[in-house]
Amino acid sequence: MSPTPLVVIGAGTIGRTHIDRIVRSEGLCLAGIADPTDAGKALAQQLNVPWYADHLRLLEAVKPKGAVVATPNACHIPMALDCLDRGVAALVEKPLADTVAEAQILVDAQARTGVPVLVGHHRRYNPINRRARELLQAGRLGQLVSANVMSTVFKPDAYFDVAWRRQKGGGPVLINLIHEIDMLRFLCGEITSVQAMASNAVRAFDVEDTAAAVLRFANGALGTVVLSDTAASPWCWDFCAGEQDQYPRQNVQSHYLTGTQGSLSLPDLALWSYAGERSWHAEITREERNVHKADPYTQQLLHFAAVIACAEPPLCSALDGLRTLQATLAVSEAANSGQAVNLALKLADKETSA
Ligand SMILES: NC(=O)c1ccc[n+]([C@@H]2O[C@H](COP(=O)([O-])OP(=O)(O)OC[C@H]3O[C@@H](n4cnc5c(N)ncnc54)[C@H](O)[C@@H]3O)[C@@H](O)[C@H]2O)c1
Repeated sequence: MSPTPLVVIGAGTIGRTHIDRIVRSEGLCLAGIADPTDAGKALAQQLNVPWYADHLRLLEAVKPKGAVVATPNACHIPMALDCLDRGVAALVEKPLADTVAEAQILVDAQARTGVPVLVGHHRRYNPINRRARELLQAGRLGQLVSANVMSTVFKPDAYFDVAWRRQKGGGPVLINLIHEIDMLRFLCGEITSVQAMASNAVRAFDVEDTAAAVLRFANGALGTVVLSDTAASPWCWDFCAGEQDQYPRQNVQSHYLTGTQGSLSLPDLALWSYAGERSWHAEITREERNVHKADPYTQQLLHFAAVIACAEPPLCSALDGLRTLQATLAVSEAANSGQAVNLALKLADKETSA
């Protein structure tokens, strides 16, 4: 089969990750880059692929099968719509949009055109999470009881030299939490209600440095996420799952799922269960599951090619991107208002499936 021609729109930090993985993957072919910067043009020249400052000119000149939209958040929806209008499938980076209303426009356009959309929640493609989901779906934990996530890191002072990172909206809830929310939705199912608190007690910027969210899932399980960018701590998926070369690897766990028959920690995939009677007086035993290692960004792109070829349904559809965005924004809303946000009502809203 001939390689699937993909273009990348936006050759910044994550765009370059996609470009690197496309170039290195058999079955994929980098058909061009759109990015108005000199650095983007230089990269295209170095890789000997077509370059355009403007994504529309790229789409029209190259006519790729798919486009990776890796531009700033506000560009995601208009650019993805441009792709769909031309019959080009779109892999749109997270967050799908700035607002749920904008995300809905893309969900509707996808349904209308039938052109595939995938949202770049790359953790879904990590074999650890694929295996964890299989264990949950096979009932190895029994009925899900709880999910606890630690996402606590220390961002150095220089990170905050950029003004928007000190202002509302620039904090860990809207920047980092979305990865945790999507991973929880992938593993535990739909989130129906959110309560949250946020604090700026350490850095004293307008934006939060720490937040704690309490979630209710549709299956009745409860979840907590503790998130901070001012905590000198190793407990974060980015440090222990080995997905990001930019962070030193830590041999710790960040996610704990409990059920009536057993419990699972991640990323070590340790399954805890009772051999006999389930009782806090009996010994509970630990069994570690092994999975092959695979780069989630590469897996995501290979899946994108399979979705384009109609060989697989999207693992993270536009509607998934919308739902994850909605639950993430709900954490912010709940922290600001002090009130629980009921997502069950919103879930019952317009259900145009991707
Ligand atoms: N999935 C992940 O792991 C992950 C990681 C980082 C960022 N992201 C997401 O990816 C997106 C980009 O983030 P980043 O950190 O790479 O940002 P970045 O600023 O490093 O890169 C953005 C790039 O888009 C280019 N660009 C801007 N306007 C453009 C236009 N009109 N046409 C073409 N190119 C344009 C810029 O020149 C720049 O090169 C964000 O939405 C972010 O949330 C995802």
